[in-house]
Amino acid sequence: MMLPTSLALLGAGLLGHGVARCFLGRGLPVTVYNRTRTKAEDLAARGARLSSSPQEAIGASEILLLCLSDAAAIRQTVFSDPCPPLLSGRTICQMGTIGPEESKEIAALASSFGARYLEAPVLGNAKDVEEGRAQVMIGAVPEDYERWRELLGLLGKLFWIGPVGKAAALKLALNQLIAAETAAFALSLGFVRRSGVPVEPFLDILRESSLYCPTFDKKLSRMRERSFASPNFSVRLLLKDIDLFLANSATLGLRSDSLKGVRTIVREAVESGRADLDYSALVDLVDPLAPAGAKEESQTT
Ligand SMILES: NC(=O)c1ccc[n+]([C@@H]2O[C@H](COP(=O)([O-])OP(=O)(O)OC[C@H]3O[C@@H](n4cnc5c(N)ncnc54)[C@H](OP(=O)(O)O)[C@@H]3O)[C@@H](O)[C@H]2O)c1
Repeated sequence: MMLPTSLALLGAGLLGHGVARCFLGRGLPVTVYNRTRTKAEDLAARGARLSSSPQEAIGASEILLLCLSDAAAIRQTVFSDPCPPLLSGRTICQMGTIGPEESKEIAALASSFGARYLEAPVLGNAKDVEEGRAQVMIGAVPEDYERWRELLGLLGKLFWIGPVGKAAALKLALNQLIAAETAAFALSLGFVRRSGVPVEPFLDILRESSLYCPTFDKKLSRMRERSFASPNFSVRLLLKDIDLFLANSATLGLRSDSLKGVRTIVREAVESGRADLDYSALVDLVDPLAPAGAKEESQTT
């Protein structure tokens, strides 16, 4: 176990910002590549070295931390010319949410270019990651887990799940709960609102009960105020995760009709211009507000 002398972060979106801030805050040398360079400039002010190409970032680093949106973005950024020959002898640590088969395919690709690979998907938002409070699931051979434990442990609590693919699968199981719980809460909140029931007793009873999930209170003010800018996690990426879960659950022989219903809502949220908003915006589809000027029966939330 030891900290790397050089690390590169590819993908400085929400998650990437949390990871970069965490490591920079602990004095580690971080090279950052983001497709849209301007979105990473704030990290330069915190001490990151910005790269203008993935190959420059890869060439400068012992370990590459991938915080890209999906498997397609990983293939495009890391495994397209001229990057692959530069991967030899380095480690790729994949932190986004991708499917288990995708992760295994990327691991095989990494290995074919002489790189080591581990998956380290994260549960928690950018602030949790920055402050070392996230939960990080590791899919790797034990020696790679041992080698990178100290570094990844800076982000939060580590759970070694098994070989590559196992942590990716676990992360999908968690993310379908994000979709299901958020849709269920939006529905009950809308039902209370439209029934003219005051929202406080609903929340008080819920909080005291075994039905309660902390995510309800985390999303409550966004849902009540219909305030979805500056997302913690976007509607677009929630749809990606639902699709990954549905594809994988079909191969496992699971019945996932409930999640398919949620998918319809999330897809409509994407199609109605809400893709880049916080995923709590699905309340707008579950419980649409009356158009401006129209009278609503009850507005208790
Ligand atoms: N947000 C969270 O709290 C959170 C928590 C756990 C896991 N995750 C997972 O982590 C991953 C990243 O999520 P995020 O919320 O950080 O997303 P995000 O804010 O949308 O950032 C996505 C990143 O991927 C880059 N990217 C997308 N397509 C690309 C392509 N074709 N080529 C090169 N770069 C590309 C984006 O670059 P540009 O800036 O140029 O668009 C950006 O750096 C996702 O798999 C997500 O499910 C997110």
